Amino acid sequence: MLANLFGEEDAARHMARQLMATANRSREAAAKEKDSLLKFLHGAMERHMEYEERCLFTRLTDRGLAPEVKVATKHHEAIREKRTELEAATEVDVIAQIVFDVARLMLHHTNFEGDYIYPELDAEDWRELMEETIH
Ligand SMILES: [Fe+2]
Repeated sequence: MLANLFGEEDAARHMARQLMATANRSREAAAKEKDSLLKFLHGAMERHMEYEERCLFTRLTDRGLAPEVKVATKHHEAIREKRTELEAATEVDVIAQIVFDVARLMLHHTNFEGDYIYPELDAEDWRELMEETIH
């Protein structure tokens, strides 16, 4: 199960890097990713963030990780704000820039959690996070 969750993490990182590379290469190509990116942000990404906020962050705060939780919560807010901007965007250049920004935020957030949050999780935390994220 742990391997599975790490696989999900790697997939998210890979996707974010691909999107950033696409945005750097072609604005039109990046703009075409709008719908699938929004689907991901409202689906797996939202489930992941919602579960962390509802269950995980309070536990981690109780274990002395309030500063880390604060940073991660700010990342979630920033990702949701960009998601709203992306929904409203109609110009190709604007969409491409937001696609790049969201991807960069996701990559940064995934790296932050990997370094500072996930090492603090126990087996039970991991199992629940994975189940809530995937289903
Ligand atoms: Fe998160």
